[in-house]
Amino acid sequence: MKKVMLVFGTRPEAIKMCPLVLELKERKKFNVLVTVTGQHKEMLEQVLERFQITPDYDLAIMQPHQTLFDVTRKALSSLHDVFSIEKPDLVLVHGDTTTSFVAALAAFYLHIPVGHVEAGLRTYDIHSPFPEEFNRQATGIIAKYNFAPTEDSRQNLIREGKDPNNIYVTGNTSIDALKQMINPEFHHEYLDWIEDNRLILLTAHRRENLGQPLVNIFKAIVRITEQVKDIKVLYPIHLNPLIRQTANEILKDNDRIKLVEPLDVLNFHNFIARSHLILTDSGGIQEEAPALGKPVLVLRDTTERPEGVLAGTLKVIGTNEDDIVDACVELLNDNDLYRNMSTAKNPYGDGTASKQIADILEIDLMKSTK
Ligand code: UD1
Ligand code: UDP
Repeated sequence: MKKVMLVFGTRPEAIKMCPLVLELKERKKFNVLVTVTGQHKEMLEQVLERFQITPDYDLAIMQPHQTLFDVTRKALSSLHDVFSIEKPDLVLVHGDTTTSFVAALAAFYLHIPVGHVEAGLRTYDIHSPFPEEFNRQATGIIAKYNFAPTEDSRQNLIREGKDPNNIYVTGNTSIDALKQMINPEFHHEYLDWIEDNRLILLTAHRRENLGQPLVNIFKAIVRITEQVKDIKVLYPIHLNPLIRQTANEILKDNDRIKLVEPLDVLNFHNFIARSHLILTDSGGIQEEAPALGKPVLVLRDTTERPEGVLAGTLKVIGTNEDDIVDACVELLNDNDLYRNMSTAKNPYGDGTASKQIADILEIDLMKSTK
């Protein structure tokens, strides 16, 4: 039986890899092992608990205020040990985090083939998002199997010279997760707080937004609550202490803004479904919101998810304070614009990405046993 090891370390990777872990385990054709680097701790545990997955290895590398050097160094050295002991036939990594890049690198150093889930997304600006664009491209150089969520991402890889036979368009496993979580009967105490106001869901965590851009975002939010009266803003704050400090300084004591702990994925997905619009610099939320027809104002200068922009659901507005206020107030006041942006379109597949990836691996890994 072939040994497949999935490696991930942060919340979004976990949300998108857990459906694949469960699918691969169900097949009983592989010896499936899960290694988490623990680049995230509580935010990772929340997801593992929801999917009821217990990792075989937890490298527990997270430390407060960790730098890219800390994560890279600790993950590389610990993954060397795990890969050397387990000698997997295939390592699967996801997306663009430092965990993903380092796991691919460690596997490469040990001549272990790598499969890249969510391959081929690009901005072609190595500094934006930072360091994710580098992580994704570097992982792409190493990967044998490339599971691209869309045809656009497949084309990026082909342009870069990857063998088309090793690129598979599967949709995004985020939609697999979303489909498992959405519940029309969902209720939560925060919904009582929202009453009949329109809900703005806010998240922000990008490394390049720490500092002044984050200050701009938060000041803009305060101004928006002053200009439009029938809104409430729910903000589950990322556990990064730098973000929490700035958020608490600028957003506290506003009865239209609720600062809460990171939400469990089931709750968060259902809050997307109940929201009026979303303000975020997140990558994953840009995939989930179009599927639910929720307009997103993207608090970044670039996006590697052009499909959502093309679908009309995403608008990239950057982090200038006035621009955020203008774009958000316009969207709140202009019904036609809102209607245009809120048609549910899902460019990221039908929620069967994990099944498709497992099918491909079953065929290909069995072939290589002969
Ligand atoms: C990481 C990824 C980013 C991804 C994001 C998802 C890299 C370089 N960055 O960024 O691509 O979009 O995760 O959220 O791979 N912390 C906790 N508990 C947690 C998680 C984080 O306390 O469960 C705090 C710690 O102080 C930690 C800090 O947050 O040092 C930053 O975490 P880190 O993973 O380095 O960066 P993210 O911004 O989360
Ligand atoms: N998410 C969550 N709880 C929250 C905020 C986000 O479960 O409080 C989910 C969200 O639905 C998406 C993922 O976390 O699936 C996105 O993670 P994040 O924004 O941290 O990272 P990114 O996608 O930018 O890499």
